[in-house]
Amino acid sequence: MSTATLDRSLGFVDAPVDASLDLYAEIERLKTEKNAILLAHYYQEAAIQELADFVGDSLGLAREAANTDAEIIVFAGVHFMAETAKILNPEKTVLLPDLNAGCSLADTCPPDAFEAFCDQYPDHTVITYVNSSAAVKALSDIICTSSSAAHIINQLPEDEKILFAPDRNLGAYLIRETGRDMVLWDGVCIVHETFSERKLLRLAAKHPDADVLAHPECRDAVLQHADFIGSTSQIRRYARDNGPAKFIVATEEGILHQMEKDNPHNTLIPAPPESGCNCSQCPHMRLNTIEKLYLCLEHESPEITMEESLRKDALRPIERMMEMSAGIK
Ligand code: 13P
Ligand code: SF4
Repeated sequence: MSTATLDRSLGFVDAPVDASLDLYAEIERLKTEKNAILLAHYYQEAAIQELADFVGDSLGLAREAANTDAEIIVFAGVHFMAETAKILNPEKTVLLPDLNAGCSLADTCPPDAFEAFCDQYPDHTVITYVNSSAAVKALSDIICTSSSAAHIINQLPEDEKILFAPDRNLGAYLIRETGRDMVLWDGVCIVHETFSERKLLRLAAKHPDADVLAHPECRDAVLQHADFIGSTSQIRRYARDNGPAKFIVATEEGILHQMEKDNPHNTLIPAPPESGCNCSQCPHMRLNTIEKLYLCLEHESPEITMEESLRKDALRPIERMMEMSAGIK
């Protein structure tokens, strides 16, 4: 291993990459040599998904991280995902190609403000979406993902008071789904918040034979037109099991890569954001690139680290999620 060091203010290894290198072959070589596993979320660019040993939703990735024998976990995703892998694997090296790959939703929930909010509801069980920092997880009773949230809530006694954070759209969807009255933190994801009901309706009118598939982080105005609502893995599975057919997909467009591979005869139409921007690409997820991935593996940096006391406090509600989501796909 060469000795380029991480400039923490940059958040990624900034070293020259030999333009003649086949980075795909190099990444495969480094994975084998270092006994490293590459876990990727669906919102990564297609080339990174192709290199990954496992591509999945947040729950699938956490399970994979918990079960791997690899010595190094390289997380092609965002910070809270890599942090969750580290919480589950204190003895392993967990790498994130760019530490700046955060999450707008997690950022809406600073730990101090969240603690003060929870203090207003001392008799409430705090259920927190995995899109949150380790410090916020440590203040929570149970963590959930979009695939497991309703299943977890339905296991709690009907009179149990619940505070849900940080996504208000997912929270409102869960209130409708489970019939439970929950106190909600007011956070949103910048990507899912931008899907336009007006444009979706126009698109659906043009394609009346299409099913609308939506992630529950979308606004209610969008979700009410969905034929299916689920996590990224669940959306993928729905299209795979119900094709060949036409689907309008309201989530980050990276998901389309695996959906196209699953069934090339499906017609997949990304749901339109309000403006003509690239807003249906997550700017945080997309900070990871093949070059940064290569440098991260080569230099084993940047690494996720955290205080052991914080890790232990955040582990408890994650373990409850793992127990309570057994059987969820
Ligand atoms: P999933 O768990 O559905 O993959 O969601 C992760 C995420 O960040 C959605 O924006
Ligand atoms: Fe966070 Fe939204 Fe990006 Fe998911 S899509 S990682 S919720 S900013």
